[in-house]
Amino acid sequence: MDISFSKWHAAIEKRRSRRRFDPSLPLTPETLAALEKVCNQFTPYPSARSRLVTESSESVFKGVIGGYGKVKGTHTFIAFIGNMDEPFVQEKVGYTGEAIILEATALGLNTCWVAGFFRPEIVTSLIEVTEKEQVLAITPVGYAREQESWEEKLMSRFGRSHNRLPLSKLVRGLPKEQWPNWVSVSLEAARLAPSAVNRQPWGFDVQDDGITVFVRTSGPEFNVSKRLDCGIAMLHLEVAAVNSGCKGEWEFLPSPQVAKFNIHQ
Ligand SMILES: Cc1cc2nc3c(=O)[nH]c(=O)nc-3n(C[C@H](O)[C@H](O)[C@H](O)COP(=O)(O)O)c2cc1C
Repeated sequence: MDISFSKWHAAIEKRRSRRRFDPSLPLTPETLAALEKVCNQFTPYPSARSRLVTESSESVFKGVIGGYGKVKGTHTFIAFIGNMDEPFVQEKVGYTGEAIILEATALGLNTCWVAGFFRPEIVTSLIEVTEKEQVLAITPVGYAREQESWEEKLMSRFGRSHNRLPLSKLVRGLPKEQWPNWVSVSLEAARLAPSAVNRQPWGFDVQDDGITVFVRTSGPEFNVSKRLDCGIAMLHLEVAAVNSGCKGEWEFLPSPQVAKFNIHQ
């Protein structure tokens, strides 16, 4: 598909997770068609796909404790699905899903990656999923209530905040003074990526010929792979790089590395 990198780059700064939607503002047929189109057409990896679902949307979300912290008021969600037999499936689903999230953001919609607190059995009763596939995450899509609810504000304090670590804590390799412009812009975009409980598990190794993403943190995964978060950061990094005039290719790497963005020299 034709990708508007400048549109997605602008969406990176705008996007933030929202969990309370306005049920009186349904999506128009045109907006649903635009979402369906990006889900069907943005498929850079055969092992990762996205499906738009417009039924039973609220029942698919779970609360953190009882109904508390649950996504509410939505008519629509998108499922992010991976073929678990394929290598690097977590990264590929993260990368693909974030493109859909940025397109939704550019359309003026609100979203929230949900990998822990949803019911996969409801998703698989609504869409076809093969034996090899798993629904790794979903996102609500809709128009958030204008004001953040008290519950949303409180959830931010439980590690789900929008704050990010400074680049100095995330980057190694070539010193900052030697970074070309595309490196600074791409690292800033990658830093803004969302991650489960805002854990920001990624690190970035800057080299002359590209940037390697690696898993920086050790410790428990809480049932959501850190490599899924890293796939999301990869998409941000590439969108900003291409929008700064620097194209490249991803080369997937074994753990704890994730992938290197090799620039076209
Ligand atoms: C892979 C992934 C899984 C997530 N799972 C959940 C979830 O189960 N429930 C939820 O309320 N938020 C979830 N989030 C949203 C994060 O808490 C949120 O992205 C993070 O706190 C950063 O805030 P921001 O998205 O507003 O920048 C998830 C985010 C990612 C990337």
